Amino acid sequence: MSEARKILVTSALPYANGSIHLGHMLEYIQTDMWVRYQKLRGNTCTYVCADDAHGSAIMLRAEKEGITPEQLIANVQTEHMTDFADFLVDFDNFHSTHAEENRELSTAIYLKLRDNGHIATRSVTQYFDPEKGMFLADRFIKGTCPKCAAEDQYGDNCEKCGATYEPTELKNPRSAISGATPVLKDSKHFFFKLPDFEAMLKEWTRSGALQESVANKIAEWLDGGLQEWDISRDAPYFGFEIPDEPGKYFYVWLDAPVGYMASFKNLCARRPELDFDEYWKKDSTAELYHFIGKDIINFHALFWPAMLEGAGFRKPTALNVHGYLTVNGQKMSKSRGTFVKARTYLDHLNPEYLRYYYASKLGRGVDDLDLNLEDFVQKVNSDLVGKVVNIASRCAGFIHKGNAGVLVSTDIEPELRASFSEALPSIADAYEKRDFARAMREVMHLADLANAWIADKAPWALNKAEGKQAEVQAICALGINLFRQLIILLKPVLPNLAKAAEDFLNVAPLSWTDLDTQLANHQLNPFTPLMTRIEPAKVEAMVEASKEDLAATAEASQDSAPGGNGELVKEPLAETIDFNTFAAVDLRIALIEKCEFVEGADKLLRLTLDIGDAKRNVFSGIKSAYPDPSKLEGRLTLYVANLAARKMKFGVSEGMVLAAGPGGEEIYLLSPDSGAKPGQRVH
Ligand code: 2FM
Ligand code: ZN
Repeated sequence: MSEARKILVTSALPYANGSIHLGHMLEYIQTDMWVRYQKLRGNTCTYVCADDAHGSAIMLRAEKEGITPEQLIANVQTEHMTDFADFLVDFDNFHSTHAEENRELSTAIYLKLRDNGHIATRSVTQYFDPEKGMFLADRFIKGTCPKCAAEDQYGDNCEKCGATYEPTELKNPRSAISGATPVLKDSKHFFFKLPDFEAMLKEWTRSGALQESVANKIAEWLDGGLQEWDISRDAPYFGFEIPDEPGKYFYVWLDAPVGYMASFKNLCARRPELDFDEYWKKDSTAELYHFIGKDIINFHALFWPAMLEGAGFRKPTALNVHGYLTVNGQKMSKSRGTFVKARTYLDHLNPEYLRYYYASKLGRGVDDLDLNLEDFVQKVNSDLVGKVVNIASRCAGFIHKGNAGVLVSTDIEPELRASFSEALPSIADAYEKRDFARAMREVMHLADLANAWIADKAPWALNKAEGKQAEVQAICALGINLFRQLIILLKPVLPNLAKAAEDFLNVAPLSWTDLDTQLANHQLNPFTPLMTRIEPAKVEAMVEASKEDLAATAEASQDSAPGGNGELVKEPLAETIDFNTFAAVDLRIALIEKCEFVEGADKLLRLTLDIGDAKRNVFSGIKSAYPDPSKLEGRLTLYVANLAARKMKFGVSEGMVLAAGPGGEEIYLLSPDSGAKPGQRVH
């Protein structure tokens, strides 16, 4: 047997200021399945991760919650670790970047880079919040887009027209933290001289370490010329202070990837068989893989290998980059209830359903993966319950009733058994290459063969005939053995199902080498259902609960607080209303004469309507869908003229305009056909 490989694997470190959602889970499940496969093959594979705990976002969030950043990151770490464990993501270690090992390693790497001449310093002019006393990252500056004049846009790009710009180009800039007008201020910054590593990076990125499409993307950046990378931030900042530079901190992205090393180092202290240097020294023969999303390839394919090289460490063997998750073909959406937190999923559904679905759709590429909720129910029920578990449930009863649960020895059907053993190398190859979709397809093909064979042999019919008991037992014994093979093949994806199957089979934990053997003359344990079908109602409940999460967030936001925008509590819809009730609604065509922001309201626009014989003032909660109010001016819409006026914090709203859609960006103001005139009645 060839020697066991030594492999160190990481997933991207999640930020310590938010919950894990199903988009995150794609990466952790993908990595975990690969790691479990390696362990099943007998390789020494170690999977480490950590919370990414530094940066101004975490500092400000803690401040807002009235706790220290240390308390915040400890709370979030507990939540993250529980979510991962419940999704069966089995880290060998889950640490934090705010840890002593990381401080030491980040400092040592920086000093090496500095001593080797790879650090430059120069003055940088940036917006500074004079009230808060801090420099403002681009996302903490808001103002009017210099291109399209949309208000309330971030410091680096406009969500309305897509323009990118410098924060200094923004009109009417203000600090998103204090509201103060920022001032320009100089400060000394530290830069990592990335161009020093251009030749190395050109070679490394073409060495097979990257998927082809990733290598091509990186090549564009390399060809465009590398820039020095700003690695410092000024106090106040939550992070590690730069040695010999009081008041200057490492930028969060400097010490984040070092967190991979730090988590491993922390583990080495508990696991004497793991040697830190053996894995990280320059000429290490251990393998190192980082699983990441395609949004952070610049950090991992340029800065990180250059830092490692400059500080005298080994570089990653490969980056395994995946695409984004969409749900029902679209970006996850809070208003549609498809932005699902890990915990919300777990409250309703078995984690292995999602693990299997992701596996069935994950290839080697960086394509986005769609979680189609109908397909999810259908696929899991048909493959796992209908095919795999079905084999055991079809056979177990006959063995228990006819032979006291003892599996006989059987050597029937050499061809069918050969189909299984011949498929193994290809399934192993698919797992190794992270082509989980192919692995699942090939495993399900074997399950189909087994089911078709059992259906053909029909032990349930034979069992009724005289003198066929031995044949029934032989068929069922092979059926159970084929089931056992499928369970081994699915174990990286479905560890709990495998555990339940091992209990039923009455065997020690199965590994890949067990594929070479058969169970014979063996006592089984009683059969209990190993997996139940997904009930579509549970999926609907999860989607509804995700909308509720949103409602909870909205409640906490300022302008729906009491006395805020006065969002209405709606009565449930009446099943029917009589015609007169309907006719009593004074529906009219209205011309939006003027449309503007409302000072201090996050969701409202103020509309001045021409309704033919009068002007009306209406506040409408449609700002999220119409960030540029001037675009609504001149448009016709439908208006309820006799709705009782409501007094709101910002003034009196007279009636209401009509729109459809769930909310957020999806609000669609209704319009009449052209030709309609302001004031005309709708009937
Ligand atoms: O993008 C993110 O969520 C980062 N927290 C990932 C960090 S990965 C590594 F470099 F630490
Ligand atoms: Zn714009």
